[in-house]
Amino acid sequence: MMHLACIPNLVGGHLGGWRHKDAFDRPVMNLEAFIEMSQIAERGKFDCVFLADGNGVRDMDRPALFAANHPSARPSFFEPTTLLSAVAMVTKRVGIVATATSTYDEPWMVARRFASMDHISKGRAGWNLVTASNAGDALNFGRSEHMGREDRYARAQEFYEVVAALWDSWADDAFPQDKASGQYLDPTRVRPIDHSGPHFTVKGPLNISRTPQGRPIVFMAGQSAPGMELAARYADALFGAGTTKQDCIDAYADIKGRMARYGRSPDTLKILPGVSVFTGRTAAEAEDLYLELQSLISPALGVHYLSKMLVHDLENLPLDGPLPLDDLAEETLGGSSLRRYIIDMARRDKLTLRETYQRTLPALGGPVFKGSPTQVADEMEDWWRSKAGDGFTIMAPVQPSGLRDFVDLVVPELQRRGIFRKEYETTTLRGHLGLPDAPSRWHAAPKKAERGAA
Ligand SMILES: Cc1cc2nc3c(=O)[nH]c(=O)nc-3n(C[C@H](O)[C@H](O)[C@H](O)COP(=O)(O)O)c2cc1C
Repeated sequence: MMHLACIPNLVGGHLGGWRHKDAFDRPVMNLEAFIEMSQIAERGKFDCVFLADGNGVRDMDRPALFAANHPSARPSFFEPTTLLSAVAMVTKRVGIVATATSTYDEPWMVARRFASMDHISKGRAGWNLVTASNAGDALNFGRSEHMGREDRYARAQEFYEVVAALWDSWADDAFPQDKASGQYLDPTRVRPIDHSGPHFTVKGPLNISRTPQGRPIVFMAGQSAPGMELAARYADALFGAGTTKQDCIDAYADIKGRMARYGRSPDTLKILPGVSVFTGRTAAEAEDLYLELQSLISPALGVHYLSKMLVHDLENLPLDGPLPLDDLAEETLGGSSLRRYIIDMARRDKLTLRETYQRTLPALGGPVFKGSPTQVADEMEDWWRSKAGDGFTIMAPVQPSGLRDFVDLVVPELQRRGIFRKEYETTTLRGHLGLPDAPSRWHAAPKKAERGAA
């Protein structure tokens, strides 16, 4: 079966999305709108909703861009685990995945927030581990610049290991809560983690019992070589990126191919490439939506935004001339995966500046599936059968109409083909994704032996 995540970003996935007549009127800090989106996703039997996040206000140095906003800017945004805990109370089945960075957070705090969310949602929580794409976030955490990639990933690995160990602090049966005997907990069924490494010293145990999923699900999204390696080693799911089907097929084979060296079977990691879906009742309706949204982006904004994505000032260049590819070849700190995809695409397809932003902005660098519900379903099925992904992360250009159209028009077509669930068959995100039980160090130690050893 195909797996589906969606991004319930209220401003939509297109730069002009929030200005569309069908978009939410007041997307800023709108809890009710997030609830509506999550309930639409649940009606569509999505595996999960997925919230991207950062820890800084971006673009203040570029007033035109700052004023116009773009989907990944998030100048005013709920702390994601807080928001999704509220969403958990008004949904029953859909998974809830929030982003938290290993670069500017503490493993103890992340372990605790996500364990709480897993208990609150009764087993639907996921953590998207990122090393942070916005270099400016560093300035809010006592640093003058973003941590280099190698350091970020070394820290991320240890961070993950500490979080996982904290989630395993308690055995499943550690809290008998037996009123009659007076035994609230079993002291032989908990251990500190006593972690001491280059980045963290954490004694543990976590002050939260083992969670319904054993461990919350871990998503990742980094597409650089160290990002893929970390995902191959530890991730349960990956929010993939690629501009073409072939990119996604290559990345899928690459990441799954790396898993054997960590003793993991390839189907224990679900790869869900991000795709922007423009659909309507007919292909013509989808095309009209696409063109209408393109008209909501001015060339000035297009160039501003592409400059930001490429971390390079393109503003004084002719719109119909080439990109300065030689200057762009240099690596930069932060956001580098997407940047590389755009540069490769411009080089490969010999695009002008205008063509590059026109091609990039509808999907913010990712693939676009555009057309009637049948055409979109055809493309999804083809990519899925070609092993470009185990499913998709759906980004709709306008919200809530885009997600609603997807659920009402495309999902039934996928269900009719027998490649997507008609009903939830499990209650946890782990179950929806078809992932094995989380290993716990307590599973290896039978209770009696533990007792004896204590
Ligand atoms: C599809 C996708 C989604 C991402 N979402 C986020 C996010 O929400 N927050 C964030 O800080 N970084 C996000 N990132 C960035 C990466 O996870 C990664 O931390 C960053 O690109 C730097 O790592 P790299 O050097 O491996 O590219 C995302 C990346 C991709 C490809």
